[in-house]
Amino acid sequence: MASDYEMLIAQIKSLANISSDAIPVMANASSLLFYNLPEINWAGFYMVNGEELILGPFQGRLACVSIKKGRGVCGTAFYKDEVQLVPDVHDFPGHIACDAASNSEIVIPLHDKNGTIKAVLDIDSPVKNRFSIEDLGGLVQFAYTLEQIIEKW
Ligand code: SME
Repeated sequence: MASDYEMLIAQIKSLANISSDAIPVMANASSLLFYNLPEINWAGFYMVNGEELILGPFQGRLACVSIKKGRGVCGTAFYKDEVQLVPDVHDFPGHIACDAASNSEIVIPLHDKNGTIKAVLDIDSPVKNRFSIEDLGGLVQFAYTLEQIIEKW
């Protein structure tokens, strides 16, 4: 299903004129994604805290508060510093089921201006194979925009 990522990117850029601190940018980004992407049940961030991720701003049901590096989809994205596109979470070894409704997900690492990983963007869907190559491209662009916008982590 095609989403208007250009519109979402323009919106998050205009909100960033008001604040470029990580928390408000990520809070509004999770709301923008959650309310504009069809067929998703969670959109938000986990923040790097030493060797683990801790829950950041999100929209959706209650979620795990901390995730060890290398655990689940988010922990793997953190450990490998690589985007994880998972068509069926039940096939992903060690997947953490915060919400039993989730069936597919995408996780994208975010970096500061020095290239250090600071957070991951996690979007979950109740639909298997929810995220197409177009979604992957649009969301990577969206995440890249956040990296450009955020001045203070
Ligand atoms: N699905 C994630 C856990 C976080 S929640 O689903 C919000 C994972 O396996 O990393």
